[in-house]
Order: sequence, then structure tokens, then C-alpha cells
Amino acid sequence: MKARLAALSAEALARIAAVEDAAALEQVEQTLLGRKGELSTLMRGIGDLPPEERGPFGQAVNAAKQALAEALEERRGEFAEVALRAELGDVRFDPSEPAPPSVRGHLHPITLVRREVERIFTGLGFDIEDGPEVESEAYNFDMLNIPAHHPARDMQDTFWLESGQVLRTHTSCVQLRAMQEREGRLPIRVIAPGRVFRNEQQDATHEHTFHQVEGLMIDRGVSVADMKGVLAMFLSRLFGAAVEIRLRPSYFPFVEPGFELDMRRADDPGGEWIELMGCGLVHPHVLRAGGVDPEEASGFAFGIGLDRVVMMRYGIDDIRWMMSGDPRFLRQF
Ligand code: PHE
Repeated sequence: MKARLAALSAEALARIAAVEDAAALEQVEQTLLGRKGELSTLMRGIGDLPPEERGPFGQAVNAAKQALAEALEERRGEFAEVALRAELGDVRFDPSEPAPPSVRGHLHPITLVRREVERIFTGLGFDIEDGPEVESEAYNFDMLNIPAHHPARDMQDTFWLESGQVLRTHTSCVQLRAMQEREGRLPIRVIAPGRVFRNEQQDATHEHTFHQVEGLMIDRGVSVADMKGVLAMFLSRLFGAAVEIRLRPSYFPFVEPGFELDMRRADDPGGEWIELMGCGLVHPHVLRAGGVDPEEASGFAFGIGLDRVVMMRYGIDDIRWMMSGDPRFLRQF
């Protein structure tokens, strides 16, 4: 049996050396080391040996197995390397080949219109003011004269954070920050563009995240007439044509009197009025909260929805496109 083992090992090693590809190697492995392979068959004969020879024979078989496994592994490595070489040799790599053209991005329509609004107002002497999107309840509500029972504080409308802060529901909070920062120095002329958030059912005209531009102008003797003049000029420039505006009484806790402003093109007197923004004279409580003496100065404020303007400008019928990030939408601007 020992002689058979030796012969078998030698023959097996020769076979392993002779195979020409990985598939053939696998075949050889099966016949040699498989459960029904030649070594296993030999091993089963161990019972025929005298007891004292069984141990050494088993060890010899295991050593032979080990040697074959190593030889197989070595061959497998050789075939793998050949395969890899062949694959790499196939790939053309030409370092002088020009790169594919890179895709160039461009500004989002909201950004385009926001910049236009900023350009118009900076031209009128307004500063651009920024405020946090995560706001305190005080800035978003209390100091704006929005009382505790006001429905705008409802869980339905406002994203409350566990900290007690809110995602600002409008840009009006920046009115107070701008006033406080200037410590009563007049005039105050600012716009504050930015994102705002409402916990609303989404549809074609409602998004949880949208954009507003707040405006605030405070000085001695500022009136509704000033507000109408500035806003009519702003809208005419924004829409590139003279516009008519109309004020309808409305209620916002932070202005008194408060209005909805509608506009239509002056060259289209029969045309439809389009509701565009809330505005009014800054409420005395708000002036005081901002450190401005209402006996000394007055001002107007407005808040316009940027998404609305973009939709009108480009004929977009669903506000949800704005934040969609969909390239089919964005490529059009
Ligand atoms: N903050 C109001 C809103 O979100 C808009 C507004 C701003 C109204 C300023 C009046 C004055 O709808």
C-alpha cells in the first residue's frame, strides 16, 4: 500500500504539472482529492493493514494529500495570473485620449430670480440681511406680535424642534434681527431672502420648504404711500413692464394696517389681478421689540414668495418642481 501511495503521488504530481488550464486543473483535483477520489479510496483500505502500520500509513496519506493540495494551489495561482495578464492586455489605455466633456451646472431658477430681486433692491439703497433657518419661538412668533393662541403656531403649520426652536415659518424674523443689529440707527432698509418651512400638506401650490424675500424700511414718517411707491417700482423692474398694484386690507399680526398686494400689468388693464405678497406698516409692538421708538419712526414691511414669482416668470405649474432636483426640470433654465 505504501508503494501504491508513492506511485499515486508521483503520478498525481505529474498530472497536476501537465494540465493546461484552470478547468482541467479542477477536474484533476476532483479525481485526486474528491470524496470518491483515488486517495480516499486508498485511505479506505487502511483497515486491511496490521494495526501498528495504520497510524504511520494514515500520516503518510495526509502528507501526500497536503503535498498535492499545495501543488494544486500553485498551479491555480499560475492560471489566475495568466488570466489577469490576458485581461489587462485587452484594455486599451491611452493617456493622450481627450477626456469626455464635463457637464456644466448652472444656477437654479430660484437663485436667478433671487439675485435679480437683490440687484433691484440694492439699487434702491437696501442692504441684504441674513437670518437663521432654525429660529427661536421669540423671533418667529412672540416679538412679531403673534400671540400664543394664533393658529400659525399650530403643530400643523410649524416644524417644532425638540429644543423648542422652530424651522422659521417666514422671513419676518429677520425684521427684528435687522432692527436690533442697528440699535435704532435710521434709516433701516433691508431685504432678507431665504428658505422658510411649513408643515403643510404638499400639492401643486404648497411645499414644506419654499423661499421668501422679506423687506423692511424704517425711517421718520414712512407711510403706506412710500410702500406703494417702492413696491410698484420693484415689481415693474422685476417683471420688465410697468405694473399696477392694488392693496386689499388683510391681517398679519406684525403689521397695522396690513394688506395683500395684487398686481397686474399696466398694459393689460382687463387682465387678471395676481395676489403676490403680504405687506403693511410695521406694528408698534414689533418696532419696540426691535428697539425702535414708534413715536419717532415708522416703517413698512413685506414678504414675497420667490417660488411664486419664479413660477409666474417661467410658466411653471407645480411648486414641487423647485426642490425636486430633477435635471429634466433644471436643464431648462
Ligand atoms: N410673513 C408673512 C407671511 O409669511 C408675509 C408678510 C411679511 C406680511 C411682512 C406682512 C409683512 O405670509
